[in-house]
Amino acid sequence: MSDAQSPAPAPGATPAWTERLDHGRFAGKTVIVTGAGSGIGRATASRIAREGGRVIAVDVSQERLDEFVAAHSGSDVEALVADITDDEAVARIIATAGDVIDGLANIAGIMDDMTPVAEMSDAVWQRVFRVNVDGTMKLMRAAIPVMLTTGRGSIVNTASEAALRGSAAGAAYTASKHAVVGLTKSTAFMYGPAGLRVNAVAPGPVITNIQATFGSPLGAERVQRAMALLPTPVEADALAASITFLLSDDGVNVNGAILASDGGWSAA
Ligand SMILES: NC(=O)c1ccc[n+]([C@@H]2O[C@H](COP(=O)([O-])OP(=O)(O)OC[C@H]3O[C@@H](n4cnc5c(N)ncnc54)[C@H](O)[C@@H]3O)[C@@H](O)[C@H]2O)c1
Repeated sequence: MSDAQSPAPAPGATPAWTERLDHGRFAGKTVIVTGAGSGIGRATASRIAREGGRVIAVDVSQERLDEFVAAHSGSDVEALVADITDDEAVARIIATAGDVIDGLANIAGIMDDMTPVAEMSDAVWQRVFRVNVDGTMKLMRAAIPVMLTTGRGSIVNTASEAALRGSAAGAAYTASKHAVVGLTKSTAFMYGPAGLRVNAVAPGPVITNIQATFGSPLGAERVQRAMALLPTPVEADALAASITFLLSDDGVNVNGAILASDGGWSAA
């Protein structure tokens, strides 16, 4: 059925969409993808691999990476169990990628427990910042010198709806994703003239394995109220479509952008 004949989606429903591969889009390119064992990272790593790229698939979970590799036999995938908060592990990721790094998709991240700042524990704050901010920064810091040697490279970081508003999560996650936006824009500004592009996606709700807990009655009440306008969660493939666009050469003129991939939630 052509688009012209498709029935209009019900109000609030996500329009039907089928992934269409752009074969060879990543041929000859090496792309590091963190969080490749699950959710948005897995979908992105998968799409790059199926479009001909060499994927350095990074996750802390051996089991998830084993499953990913088994599902992509015949593709050029090197799986690496590595924690992005660990400098030695980051060095291993860069060494595995080799002399040319065409893309870096910083997708690994964790949620908080929706706690407002007055109830914040140091443990939650530090854990969320360590993964979402320190991990993202450490990989950028390590990959950019390699990208500068070839004068090209595309980095896509993962922000969130929580980077655009105060009502989508607790204080730690919200602040960490705002920090990802700052890192993205600063790096785009600094290295744009050297040929690098640095952008971020801000996903709305996506069906993945991410764990969101409610550790505070106030946080639960406030965030759940704001979720009344939540769009229908989408499959991770829909985010991979946005991320691979920014990673690919089709993103040629896009640098320092924060692309809301949220079905329009941020426009509400
Ligand atoms: N799912 C959503 O609705 C949503 C919305 C907005 C933003 N995001 C962001 O998208 C990104 C991916 O989330 P997801 O929903 O796909 O989650 P997910 O939990 O399904 O996948 C995240 C993966 O990252 C890995 N990981 C966690 N910490 C790591 C570390 N220190 N080093 C290496 N790997 C690590 C996990 O093992 C997991 O496989 C995150 O940055 C998240 O904040 C998700």
